[in-house]
Amino acid sequence: YPMIKPTLESWSFAGVFGRFDTAQLQRGYQVYKEVCSNCHSMHLVSFRNLADEGGPHFSEEQVKTLAATFQVQDGPNDAGDMFERPGRPSDRFPSPFPNPQAAAAANNGKAPPDLSLMAKARAVERGFPWFILDFFTQYEEGGPDYIHGLLTGYTDPPAGVTVPPGGHYNPHFISGPSLAMPPPLSDGQVTYTDGTPETVDQYSRDVSAFLMWAAEPHLDARKRTGFQVILFLIVFAGLLYYTKKKIWANIA
Ligand code: HEM
Repeated sequence: YPMIKPTLESWSFAGVFGRFDTAQLQRGYQVYKEVCSNCHSMHLVSFRNLADEGGPHFSEEQVKTLAATFQVQDGPNDAGDMFERPGRPSDRFPSPFPNPQAAAAANNGKAPPDLSLMAKARAVERGFPWFILDFFTQYEEGGPDYIHGLLTGYTDPPAGVTVPPGGHYNPHFISGPSLAMPPPLSDGQVTYTDGTPETVDQYSRDVSAFLMWAAEPHLDARKRTGFQVILFLIVFAGLLYYTKKKIWANIA
């Protein structure tokens, strides 16, 4: 079947000077919370990370409040039982299902995958010559491009394509013409307070950026340090060159 390549979007965090857009990450969190967290987990991300600089940068008070809106499993208690309680900043983003079997049973046999590293686990195959250049240009936006393409890519199946029961046709899906995830987003579903358009395209963009942050939380600092290191090395190479010339100046 022909997989349709997602379009390459422009992201604030692309390129040498790329940085996450804090407001976008906060909106992306809102989409994740209101929509994706009904099925998915992010076991490698703690609520307290939402307060980090270079991330959504919520205040610690906000993080306490929003952590408490999730129910997490704890225990065993003194009676030996597991129990649920409101989340705390030190907890990780939980799965809404008690175990993988229950998750699969609720989704036509496919457990929704953990989204912690999804933005790094998927990419867009750009072909020659990009795959050579990507090594030098640090192209790493393929993951968010893929997620954005997937979320906006649901359509009716073309004639001749049969979709299995419980499947949803999406030509952007990496491993087949259909997947078990129903189209999760619709226009107007999440209410933004900053006037950003409430469209499937915008939600997808914001949640893809959020998942990129989840998978690559130190991107801002890494790019800043990388740039400073290269700048230093260039200056240092110049100094070494002139030092060498001076030291050897009198040797015939
Ligand atoms: C799979 C993202 C909401 C159920 C996936 C995948 C991604 C994703 C990236 C992996 C696709 C792949 O393997 O390439 C999201 C995002 C959501 C969202 C960003 C919120 C906007 C939901 C919801 C449900 C759900 C609400 C449940 C109703 C699933 C299932 C799969 C899946 C069952 C496995 C599909 C398969 O392998 O056939 N999701 N999801 N997702 N998601 Fe979601």
